[in-house]
Amino acid sequence: MNRRFEGRVAIVTGAAGGIGTAIATRLAAEGANIVMADLKADAAQSAAAALETESIGVGCDVGEEDQVEACVQAALDRWGRLDVVVNNAGLMTFKSLGEWTGDDWLKVLRVDLLGAAFFTKRVLLHCGKRGGAIVNIASVHAVETSANAAPYAAAKAALLSLTRTTAIEGRDRRVRANAVLPGAIETPMLWQNPNLKSGVETIDKRDVGQPADIAAAVAFLASDEAKFVTGASLAVDGGRLAKL
Ligand SMILES: NC(=O)c1ccc[n+]([C@@H]2O[C@H](COP(=O)([O-])OP(=O)(O)OC[C@H]3O[C@@H](n4cnc5c(N)ncnc54)[C@H](O)[C@@H]3O)[C@@H](O)[C@H]2O)c1
Repeated sequence: MNRRFEGRVAIVTGAAGGIGTAIATRLAAEGANIVMADLKADAAQSAAAALETESIGVGCDVGEEDQVEACVQAALDRWGRLDVVVNNAGLMTFKSLGEWTGDDWLKVLRVDLLGAAFFTKRVLLHCGKRGGAIVNIASVHAVETSANAAPYAAAKAALLSLTRTTAIEGRDRRVRANAVLPGAIETPMLWQNPNLKSGVETIDKRDVGQPADIAAAVAFLASDEAKFVTGASLAVDGGRLAKL
C-alpha cells in the first residue's frame, strides 16, 4: 500500500456508514490521521479506534454550521493542520414530486449539499499555505436519475456545481476540489432503497461495486498524484452511466 497521506490529516463525514468507513480506512492505511465525523458519535468513535493510525471520532451534524466549525477545530487542536476533507455524509429519501413538502426538501438539501458547503468554507478559511483537497461524494443521480428521488438528485447535481466553484475559487489558495459519482455500491443504503424494493429501479448484480472501489478513487483524488486534477467529476459505477 502507498503511504500518500503520511503526516496528513483528513476529515471524513458520514464516516460511521458503509462508504465513509471504507474511505477513512483507506486514507488511514496510507498514513493519514482521520477525524471521523458522523451524526452517530459513538459509532464514529469506535470506527476511529479500529483505524491503523491515531484517529478520532466526533459527533457532527453536517447541516449545522457551528458543528462543522467545531469538527474542523477538533482536527486543528489535535494535529495543527487539515489537508483533506471528504464530504461523504448523505441522505436519500423517497416520495413522488406531488408528495414532497418544503421540509422534506430541506431535510435532504441540508445534509447532501449544505453540509459540503459548510466544510468547503472552513477548508478555504483554514487551509493555510499548503492548500488542501476536497472530495465530494455525489452520485450517478447527479446526472441521470429515477422517479421519487428529486431532492437527492437535485442536491447531488448541485454538489457537482459546488465542486466546480470550489475549484475556481480555491485555485489561488491551492485548494483542489473534485467529485466522485458512485453507482450502486454494496451498503445498507443501497438495499434499503424503496425504488429497488418496489421494482421502480432494477440493478444487475454485476453493476454493484464495493465501498473500497469508491475509497480507491477518493484516495487518488485527495493525493498529490492528482495535483493537476480539480473541478472534475469521476463516475465510479462499473460503466452504468455509459450505457444507453
Ligand atoms: N450506497 C450507494 O449505493 C451509493 C450510491 C451513490 C452515492 N452514494 C453516496 O455515498 C455516500 C455514503 O453513502 P452510504 O451508502 O455509505 O450511506 P450510509 O447510509 O451507509 O452512511 C451514511 C452515513 O452518513 C451519516 N449521516 C447522515 N446524516 C448525517 C448528518 N446530518 N451529519 C453527519 N453524518 C450524517 C449516517 O449516520 C451514516 O453513518 C452518500 O453521500 C451517498 O449519497 C451511495
